[in-house]
Amino acid sequence: MKALVKEKAEPGLWLVDVPEPEIGPGDVLIKVLRTGICGTDLHIRSWDGWARQTIRTPLVAGHEFVGEVVETGRAVTDIQAGDLVSGEGHLVCGKCRNCLAGRRHLCRATVGLGVGRDGAFAEYVALPATNVWVHRVPVDLDVAAIFDPFGNAVHTALSFPLVGEDVLITGAGPIGLMAAAVARHAGARHVVITDVSADRLELARKIGVSLALDVRESTVADGQRTLGLREGFDIGLEMSGSPVAMRDMIANMTHGGRIAMLGLPAEEFAVDWSRIVTSMITIKGVYGREMFETWYAMTVLLEGGLDLAPVITGRHGYRDHEAAFADAVSGTGGKVILDWTA
Ligand SMILES: NC(=O)c1ccc[n+]([C@@H]2O[C@H](COP(=O)([O-])OP(=O)(O)OC[C@H]3O[C@@H](n4cnc5c(N)ncnc54)[C@H](O)[C@@H]3O)[C@@H](O)[C@H]2O)c1
Ligand SMILES: [Zn+2]
Ligand SMILES: [Zn+2]
Repeated sequence: MKALVKEKAEPGLWLVDVPEPEIGPGDVLIKVLRTGICGTDLHIRSWDGWARQTIRTPLVAGHEFVGEVVETGRAVTDIQAGDLVSGEGHLVCGKCRNCLAGRRHLCRATVGLGVGRDGAFAEYVALPATNVWVHRVPVDLDVAAIFDPFGNAVHTALSFPLVGEDVLITGAGPIGLMAAAVARHAGARHVVITDVSADRLELARKIGVSLALDVRESTVADGQRTLGLREGFDIGLEMSGSPVAMRDMIANMTHGGRIAMLGLPAEEFAVDWSRIVTSMITIKGVYGREMFETWYAMTVLLEGGLDLAPVITGRHGYRDHEAAFADAVSGTGGKVILDWTA
């Protein structure tokens, strides 16, 4: 089968022939239909410091996908050939305290699909049945392909109650944009999103945020004044990984404000801890998705009319992966999809 493989320990991803994955008794074999390109894939492709430390070659990259089940292991009972599925890309150990308690998203020995084992940028991918999410209600294939990052957005956005609250989102990348859509849909009063890309802020306006702020031109405090906020934001969703954005967020929260932090900073950085203490701010780190509560929430949010169409801005056949990756690297659009059937 064809797959996009990190073959050598150097920049690049190569479209090559590799053997189809084999499945064990508890696994499912999936014919991949569409995949999403994630920041993680960009790190693996560019072979940065994180990738050099983390990735062992050769590796089939990719973890965001939708596909159709073609074969199931003999121990799999509730998934059938023909089912339309996406996959939870965090494979958990099943043995640690949190796994045993059913808190699988808190597993301390998580292995990542397309990171620690062969992934979904391929014509077929194998996954334990326990990591498979069957789409039992009709779903757009592009949206189904990005359930993994959509889940990051939902997990973060629904970390704290949003109804009637004023929400600040720093970073209008694909995940920040989806979080903005979720916050709107879930009943926030104002949703303010910041970025340093005019194109991405324009996408945010399509989603219907109260204010899309270019922080190169105006401050978050200006934004508060524009909307008539007097006491600061109730909820913060950090989705940029930028120290500047995190400091800005902390400075603009109300007393007792709550921050859910998904953005992954490249390095340690300092923040105003006395402000966090005296304003009694809660900061919660968010990693991945809750299994499978977040997946349930995603499905019902879409059923309830949540629209992610403005977030998907690039579509390419898998043979055009170079163009697709150039599109994703540009950092100016939304999500980029690779079609494995074209
Ligand atoms: N914790 C997790 O499980 C998890 C999973 C996926 C992604 N992530 C992280 O979440 C973040 C968002 O993911 P993404 O795919 O949308 O990433 P992205 O890199 O596409 O988006 C980040 C956005 O932040 C913007 N930005 C940069 N500096 C800023 C500033 N000072 N103020 C406001 N915005 C600024 C960038 O222009 C960009 O549009 C990334 O940091 C990513 O590494 C975490
Ligand atoms: Zn991803
Ligand atoms: Zn575990």
